[in-house]
Amino acid sequence: MESLRLRLHPLPLPLLILLLAILLGMGSIGEGEARSVMTGGVEELVERDPRGMPLRLAGRGQAVEEEEEEAAAGLSQTACPTKRLPYDPNPVRGQLDPTLYNPEDAMCLLRSLFIVSLDELRADPSFPPGFLRLAFHDCMTAGGGCDGSVLKPAELNSPANARLRRLSNITLRIQSRAAAMCLNVRPTLADTIAVAGDVANVLSGSPSGISMGLRLGRRDADPNLPGDNATTLPSPFDPFPVALEKMIRLGLTVEEATLFTVGGHSIGTSGCGAFRRRLSANISTCSSPPDRDLQPAYACQLSTICAQPAARADFDPATPLLLDTAIFRLLLEGKGLLTTDQDFFTNFTTRPFVLKYASLEGSLSFPTDFVAVYVKHLRIGINGPTSRPPASYCLTTAEQASSSSESSSSSFSSSSSDAASQIESLLLSTLQAVF
Ligand code: HEM
Repeated sequence: MESLRLRLHPLPLPLLILLLAILLGMGSIGEGEARSVMTGGVEELVERDPRGMPLRLAGRGQAVEEEEEEAAAGLSQTACPTKRLPYDPNPVRGQLDPTLYNPEDAMCLLRSLFIVSLDELRADPSFPPGFLRLAFHDCMTAGGGCDGSVLKPAELNSPANARLRRLSNITLRIQSRAAAMCLNVRPTLADTIAVAGDVANVLSGSPSGISMGLRLGRRDADPNLPGDNATTLPSPFDPFPVALEKMIRLGLTVEEATLFTVGGHSIGTSGCGAFRRRLSANISTCSSPPDRDLQPAYACQLSTICAQPAARADFDPATPLLLDTAIFRLLLEGKGLLTTDQDFFTNFTTRPFVLKYASLEGSLSFPTDFVAVYVKHLRIGINGPTSRPPASYCLTTAEQASSSSESSSSSFSSSSSDAASQIESLLLSTLQAVF
């Protein structure tokens, strides 16, 4: 009984009630109806869809908020778990390390990383594309795999990661806020970035990778090492075969590299420096751009945008906030922003995959196909020889103190009830997939 209590402790009561309802297979009720569930004097309303699946749990946002406040104040916390398996001395490269967390801690952290990331990433529409790219840059440097090294100064200060620097503190805050909800057990930075990237996808309209096997178990890079070589990432100035080869060598197929790059560029923006050489230097000659693969009228639009200082252009002006297939159709019109983007259409090895996702059939399979590659890339090269288990299983007392001040200044407490219920729905649909 005691062990059951400890296992369930990290889940707040309303969520437990809902999960129990799902597990016990409560009978379905009609569309638009709601069912009252009385448990221990706490009443919650479970709204269900026409198939009887729970839609959201009324009052959930407040419960999570209270849980986090309690955690921050140390009220719901007990000591760091003392019983745990020793770390595997020889983790298998490319596989999750099952000794990194106790199973119940891993489940708690997956949940808390997800909900805290939702809270942090919805604060600014530029965060989801940023965090998707952060995961890609952490995971696909040659030699490292996802290992949190993208936040090490040497790696973060490379030009390829210039725009990711602003995400460093937010990532650390997600890590510490999530820990505070799980007995201060420390999620690795690699796992934090992996889940934050998943949430970026969810906020951009994709299914969660958790329903496709995203789990925790990535060690971080050895703290004594400087970080990976960021030039092993594809660059917009690489000849196309070089950029493609960088991804293939790490284990993506040509189709996956096409889907992941072009699909990834269906959200977010690029600074003009990455594509300016494709445009005419003189705006009056923009209709004859030096890059013949770029549609002239589009080149003029980009020239106008880039005439402004520090301007950025959407990769996919049609649906800039949605991970979708509009970008594949834009390539067919010569509207790829980077040379490398457009090359996925020009190159005969990758063109069939651009055509596939530009089609209706491809657009239907795109959401799950994209997330499947996202989940796959989260395991490439992980837990290799440059990774180490954490020095301490839980946050240190100093880290806990700074995390509680971070929590109290977080945006979650100011979330509107509308936004809170959005989070609830997303969380619930994701957790339904796990349990
Ligand atoms: C040939 C491969 C790739 C190249 C050359 C490339 C290059 C770039 C460049 C130059 C930018 C703009 C950076 C800036 O100005 O701040 C960018 C942004 C972005 N990239 Fe890629 N990328 C590649 C593959 C990928 C992949 C595989 C993903 C996967 C998820 C991805 C996701 C993104 C996202 C989401 C952004 C927007 C970031 C934001 O708005 O902050 N890229 N990429």
